[in-house]
Amino acid sequence: MTFPRTARSTTRAGGTMNPPFTKQETYIKEFSSIDYYNTYYAPGKGVLFGEWTDFVLKNLHETFTSGNVKGDILIDFGAGPTIYHLLSACEVFNNIITSDFLEQNRIQLEKWLRKDPDALDWTHVVKCVCELESNSDNWEKKEATLRRKVTKVLKCDALVEKPYYPVAMPEADCLISCLCLEAPCKDLEAFTNTLKNFKALLKTGGHIVIQSVLKCTFYFVGNKWFSCLYLTKDDLEKAFYEAGYDIVSVKVTPRSDKSGMDISDYDSFYFVHARKP
Ligand SMILES: C[S@@+](CC[C@H](N)C(=O)[O-])C[C@H]1O[C@@H](n2cnc3c(N)ncnc32)[C@H](O)[C@@H]1O
Repeated sequence: MTFPRTARSTTRAGGTMNPPFTKQETYIKEFSSIDYYNTYYAPGKGVLFGEWTDFVLKNLHETFTSGNVKGDILIDFGAGPTIYHLLSACEVFNNIITSDFLEQNRIQLEKWLRKDPDALDWTHVVKCVCELESNSDNWEKKEATLRRKVTKVLKCDALVEKPYYPVAMPEADCLISCLCLEAPCKDLEAFTNTLKNFKALLKTGGHIVIQSVLKCTFYFVGNKWFSCLYLTKDDLEKAFYEAGYDIVSVKVTPRSDKSGMDISDYDSFYFVHARKP
């Protein structure tokens, strides 16, 4: 769907209308993995490279070097065509199962894993994580570790009770997801239901780490418009509480760089770490 670069369009009568929430068929037909990378993560120009990557990578570094979050299996839900959020986790989990709803994204993940010459280049982000680990000479080793630890790339769907059906999933020590759930979930009830369904994927005491943006109504991928579920910090806490998790920590950091507001209108970044009781 192509919309003007604003969240709301003006009608002929002069009023405003809310564009419809993006359907799954639109994702399948219109979400370009390459445009997504170029819009958000390309070095020097990606809207999310900088403030978001600093926020998310630091939180993941702190979480996975704390010694409290580690184990055998990590599930990564809704990776898109990206791997940046797995670079700290790969040091403390034996098996990483990554996943996305879209085949085009899974193809990009597979390309990166097998070092295809056409794969998206994450070197700039890998180097940032190595710097956080005070290991900046070792970025190639870090990539090799992640490639070795990712054992599966699966299709997932946030809108069904068993997001990996018909694949039988092992219970995980941790589930992570970045910038994903606000894409398919059209309201707080759907968001809460997805969190509830994730509990079946986790061991008792298992960790869930969700990071994304607040008060966002849309994002562009190239020139294609996609809706986003508008959430506040209160909504987020309510959803985790109602889904039956014990919240360990919540962080919200305001967006300070407003230069890409016409590309996506989020006002802050959030991090939630919770546990299945
Ligand atoms: C904004 S992108 C986020 C990509 C990536 N996680 C990141 O951090 O940049 C939103 C993602 O939601 C995924 N998505 C759309 N519908 C979905 C569904 N029903 N279940 C799971 N993921 C879905 C898309 O395929 C896309 O990868």
